Amino acid sequence: MVKICCIGAGYVGGPTMAVIALKCPSIEVVVVDISVSRITAWNSDQLPIYEPGLDEVVKSCRGNNLFFSSDVEKHVAEADIVFVSVNTPTKTRGLGAGKAADLTYWESAARMIADVSKSDKIVVEKSTVPVKTAEAIEKILTHNSKGVKYQILSNPEFLAEGTAIQDLFAPDRVLIGGRETPDGRRAIKALKDVYAHWVPEERILCTNLWSAELSKLAANAFLAQRISSVNAMSALCEATGADVAEVSHAVGKDTRIGHKFLNASVGFGGSCFQKDILNLVYICECNGLPEVANYWKQVIKVNDYQKSRFVNRIITSMFNTVSGKKIAIFGFAFKKDTGDTRETPAIDVCKGLLGDQARLSIYDPQVTEDQIQRDLSMNKFDWDHPLHLQPMSPSSVKQVSVEWDAYAAAKGAHGLCILTEWDEFKKLDYEKIYENMMKPAFVFDGRNVVKAEKLREIGFIVYSIGKPLDPWLKDMPTVA
Ligand code: UDX
Ligand code: ADP
Repeated sequence: MVKICCIGAGYVGGPTMAVIALKCPSIEVVVVDISVSRITAWNSDQLPIYEPGLDEVVKSCRGNNLFFSSDVEKHVAEADIVFVSVNTPTKTRGLGAGKAADLTYWESAARMIADVSKSDKIVVEKSTVPVKTAEAIEKILTHNSKGVKYQILSNPEFLAEGTAIQDLFAPDRVLIGGRETPDGRRAIKALKDVYAHWVPEERILCTNLWSAELSKLAANAFLAQRISSVNAMSALCEATGADVAEVSHAVGKDTRIGHKFLNASVGFGGSCFQKDILNLVYICECNGLPEVANYWKQVIKVNDYQKSRFVNRIITSMFNTVSGKKIAIFGFAFKKDTGDTRETPAIDVCKGLLGDQARLSIYDPQVTEDQIQRDLSMNKFDWDHPLHLQPMSPSSVKQVSVEWDAYAAAKGAHGLCILTEWDEFKKLDYEKIYENMMKPAFVFDGRNVVKAEKLREIGFIVYSIGKPLDPWLKDMPTVA
């Protein structure tokens, strides 16, 4: 029986291993983590992450061939294949701060593997890492090997949160990078055999190590670039009276372009896009390619611009000040169907509004109050950020309340902002919400989920991203 151990029971490691266990009953899969509370949650009825379909997958194989354990060393020692799926955040200090990936967790995982291993192992990079990480890991392992042989593979994960299970069941492709040596090829084949249990062979791409590592960064950069492109267009649409939904529909009809990832929004978030582009920028700079670095940097700058443009629009619409005004925030997660708030645009928008002394009342169906308060009081690394996107003082945290119902959040508010596209926001009783709000009542739809015309009929003043402006907003000065 092949034994797989995955180090890191997070958003990537947990769902990926659960699906491998489900699809490969003959393989034993153990997911380990240094966080005992995370492992306890994985072993309970309340899994530590919210992901549609995940509960069913975990329940059907946990205890059979899927296990979660905090005994990291034991399971690593016993495994044939070790996936490493630890966090690789952006460095916040020292060389490369604000851009380079922080490989502290990765390096300590590699040293631990070297320490405990007594049999040969295939070590698989699952977390996104800078190009050439595999080489560094290989050095750590071989210099501490005590006779054990290692093969390093890069097998980046392309799942998106909220659709992780679907993405894992039917991936567009599985990418496996390895050394071009007989041992390297054997290792690639061993991992390919795992995926071949359910992924058609033509969708399993085998490349060299560096191509696999770079492809992951490139794919995320391309996706983020599409969003920044359509968001840049949204500003021009508002200025000209065009409708960004119509423009992106027309553009996406070109089969060379395609329709996906062309929804204008308040900005992209999530743990990957910004981090991976920063990483790419850093690699370009380190390789003497400043023009390429600046090209990709611009994708993040437009994303920041979109968030600050949204905040400015709110403030200017509401008579140039939101000081002391209650503003309801609908949605805090970085996208629907997840409770994840990493790099969510809601953080920057809320901080921007708090910077102008608004009172915020936040509702998200999946994000806890603790998480929201933590996100809003945390310092963010300053990377070319406009002033109002800077961290808040503890006193502004008091200006924030978290509600468990959209109606309660909107009660007595002057305006409401939709920052996550949760389906339930489409179905709310906006007449009831209107009645309980201060007048004039504003809606700022950062995800274009509500029908603006219907809301205008109720009496709301509505701003939708990239849509022809409400007559009210046309008369207000715009600050870019
Ligand atoms: C992304 C990649 O899609 C995935 O392949 C990779 O493995 C990890 O990073 P994820 O961050 O989970 O996945 O979510 P994704 O669906 O890509 O959305 C990222 C952000 O872009 C979200 O904030 C989303 O709301 C935003 N977005 C997406 C838009 O603003 N417009 C769009 O058209 C699509
Ligand atoms: P991702 O979104 O990439 O899955 P997460 O932050 O959700 O990232 O998960 C990474 C997990 O890796 C965390 O639960 C963390 O506790 C775990 N982790 C980090 N370093 C180690 C280590 N050396 N050994 C075991 N687990 C680790």
